[in-house]
Amino acid sequence: MEANRGTVCVTGGTGFIASWLVMRLLERGYSVQTTVRPDPDGSRDISFLTNLPGASERLRILTANLGDPESFGPAIEGCVGVFHVATPVDLEDKEPELVITRRSIDGALGILRACLNSKTVKRVVYTSSVSAVQYNNDSGDNTLDEDSWSDVKSLGELTMFRGYAISKTMTEKGALEFGERHGLEVVTVTPTCVHGPFICPKFARSVQMALALVLGNENDYSALLKISLVHVDDVVRAHIFLFEHPDAKGRYICSLATMTIEEMSKFLSKRYPEFQIPSTESLKEVKGSGWANFSSRKLLDAGFEYKYGIEDMFDGAIQCCEEKGYL
Ligand SMILES: NC(=O)c1ccc[n+]([C@@H]2O[C@H](COP(=O)([O-])OP(=O)(O)OC[C@H]3O[C@@H](n4cnc5c(N)ncnc54)[C@H](OP(=O)(O)O)[C@@H]3O)[C@@H](O)[C@H]2O)c1
Repeated sequence: MEANRGTVCVTGGTGFIASWLVMRLLERGYSVQTTVRPDPDGSRDISFLTNLPGASERLRILTANLGDPESFGPAIEGCVGVFHVATPVDLEDKEPELVITRRSIDGALGILRACLNSKTVKRVVYTSSVSAVQYNNDSGDNTLDEDSWSDVKSLGELTMFRGYAISKTMTEKGALEFGERHGLEVVTVTPTCVHGPFICPKFARSVQMALALVLGNENDYSALLKISLVHVDDVVRAHIFLFEHPDAKGRYICSLATMTIEEMSKFLSKRYPEFQIPSTESLKEVKGSGWANFSSRKLLDAGFEYKYGIEDMFDGAIQCCEEKGYL
């Protein structure tokens, strides 16, 4: 463990990415105040957080809900930085997009206001998504960078991810504008599909999606037609890197590699012969539009280095799923 670096807040500590971030921040010597949603009957098991190394001395868990933006105030008080990771994730669009978007924007703006009022927060790192980058007329075979924004009006045809893409786009824009207007440093990380092991008990949705060929989840195959992936530890390292970087500014795409469903089928069949992976021939019928190509040149030029390859993502995810009984 390194020297105490001050206190930071992580919103949504029970989530896939946020719980990994809490773990790495504690290892790095930060004190962490993380928020979880209220649990009136106290049935939720958060021992995966409270048992982390350093947690008994330097982790505080507070309750907050994006539907009540002011509830984040106590967790932000006295912090030097805030990682706003929590989001109303609803990839299946069960709730009306307007409701999700309102909750996401109001929650983020409430958190930013609390940061401003604290007088101690130096920088906010917001976890956005390439859903806020890729849905516009420039996608297709072009390689997209941070100048590209999803056009919320052109999302009409998108069936999966629609509400999510709208809420991520509008919240990221709103957060960056708030920072500009009020002189608060706001940096955003826009990851592609985050893959790898997880410490939270819930089966991380993006890992489920990336493992669809292993799990036989045919509903997710269309999302794999062409998908960009990044390891959860690299995403978390990028958050901390950008928080600590003296000159970080604006958005940063975080993505390692892109693969097609055929490439994934061949890769998985060869590396994990113990699983029944659908053949490339059988996947020819899968319909969908595939993800765009993304450049994370801005992050690399700032000095960030990716540590993990595609093999590490699948090895880590599969081993973790076997240990947790999901495979
Ligand atoms: N995973 C990916 O591939 C990926 C890619 C790009 C960007 N992202 C972004 O990364 C962030 C974390 O995603 P994740 O994959 O870690 O998802 P996750 O595991 O579902 O985590 C989402 C977190 O948000 C919390 N949350 C949901 N609704 C809330 C509300 N109304 N109030 C307070 N907290 C609420 C959840 O709490 P509960 O545990 O109580 O449900 C959970 O802690 C999100 O901002 C997401 O958009 C993820």
